[in-house]
Amino acid sequence: MLDRLRSAAQRCSLRIALVGGLPREILRCQSSQRARENLFDELRDIDVVVEGDAVAFARELYRNLPGNLVVNEDFHTATLTTDGVEIDLTSSRRESYAAPGQLPDVDTGGIRIEEDLLRRDFTINSIAIEINPDHGALLDPLGGEADLRGRVLRILHTASFHDDPTRLFRSLRYSIRLNATLEEITQQSFHRAIEESMLDTLSPERVRYELECIGREERWHEIWAVMDLSGILHSLHEALGGISAWWTLEQGSSLDIVMRNQQRVLQGTALEPWLVRLAWATLSMRDTYFEAAMQRIGIFPRHIRSMVSARHILISVPERLSSEMPPSRIVDLLEHFPREAVALAMLIHQPVDDRGVSTRRALLNYLEEYSQVHPDLSGHELIKLGIPAGPAIGECHRRLRDLRLDGHVTTEEDERIVVQRMVELGKPGTSPDEGSSD
Ligand code: CTP
Repeated sequence: MLDRLRSAAQRCSLRIALVGGLPREILRCQSSQRARENLFDELRDIDVVVEGDAVAFARELYRNLPGNLVVNEDFHTATLTTDGVEIDLTSSRRESYAAPGQLPDVDTGGIRIEEDLLRRDFTINSIAIEINPDHGALLDPLGGEADLRGRVLRILHTASFHDDPTRLFRSLRYSIRLNATLEEITQQSFHRAIEESMLDTLSPERVRYELECIGREERWHEIWAVMDLSGILHSLHEALGGISAWWTLEQGSSLDIVMRNQQRVLQGTALEPWLVRLAWATLSMRDTYFEAAMQRIGIFPRHIRSMVSARHILISVPERLSSEMPPSRIVDLLEHFPREAVALAMLIHQPVDDRGVSTRRALLNYLEEYSQVHPDLSGHELIKLGIPAGPAIGECHRRLRDLRLDGHVTTEEDERIVVQRMVELGKPGTSPDEGSSD
């Protein structure tokens, strides 16, 4: 890929460089802060800065690198997705912020890559590796490499967090991921930005994006804890403040184990792991404020509904739910909830005793087994056997399903016998056990 980038740049006579995450991670490999082996496994995007027209360059690159090209002429950016990797191409630029939290005004005329590096968030992210013409040259005008080695997170100027408050989230994400500390002025600016309510300037969508990135980190629970302790959560919504007092990091790790072991439960739902982690971290919140807080942080209404339902299941059902009870009772308690909510409840439920374990097992049994059980006989066949068309069919179906769930019938023939008895007794929704003494 780098060869293709380089030859396309040569053909266009453009200076280009890798920037952002990839140079940072390459340097971390070199200083043995991380393993080389998985460098490319984790790579989702490659950021390339182009000194000149990034869109024209993207089109040239696309001629020799098949994939999916999306260009944004207005922003002077393009994304080429190839082999599951996104190559983000950006014209080098100068940025200015008219108001905190808004997207910046951009100037791309004749800006050198070195100047582009000065608009970024932290010194460790303001490092570039030139691809053309000086292949492999390190561009590090702000001492990012030294900060990386010293595990120091440093903003480039004191207005950085005010200009772009998403950097408040990013600073905690990197500090936990890289075991880095915020340098003193960075720390002061961080707290000042929170005190001056800079997070209020961020739209819910931008907050959600940051929480999504955090929820995908390996040490997500530590970042959530620091977000709480540093006042970020409280500043986003009062009711989010203090939530980390209700859980421990060990419990967060056990949630990850449950998610790994129960991957099937997540498949087929629209729930991504970061959302499950969010639902777990906010479980202690009061219902009264929950929806408003989720709206503030940009969670989609559909996901809020699943979370509310899952919380409802965990509050209202566990006392009555145990894996010892007949399967038909378990289905009876859970079938009115959306499947996605039951899946979420199962994952975020933290059993503290045997009873809790039994509740989780009941939820899992429901998802994996009981909710898939249906009678063999169709409605049409029930009518043929003498059940009157209308609500009685539904009742009869339900009854057959319950008998199957509890192991009283196992074959279609068993079902026929039961239905015939129901018809004889004239009670379509009643099983022979209930309808007569034999
Ligand atoms: N950047 C920035 N301010 C932001 C977001 C991004 O200055 N609010 C710059 C940084 O130089 C960053 C680069 O844009 O390195 C790319 O951003 P992104 O893809 O979000 O992060 P990566 O650095 O690639 O790191 P990772 O994906 O590992 O978080």
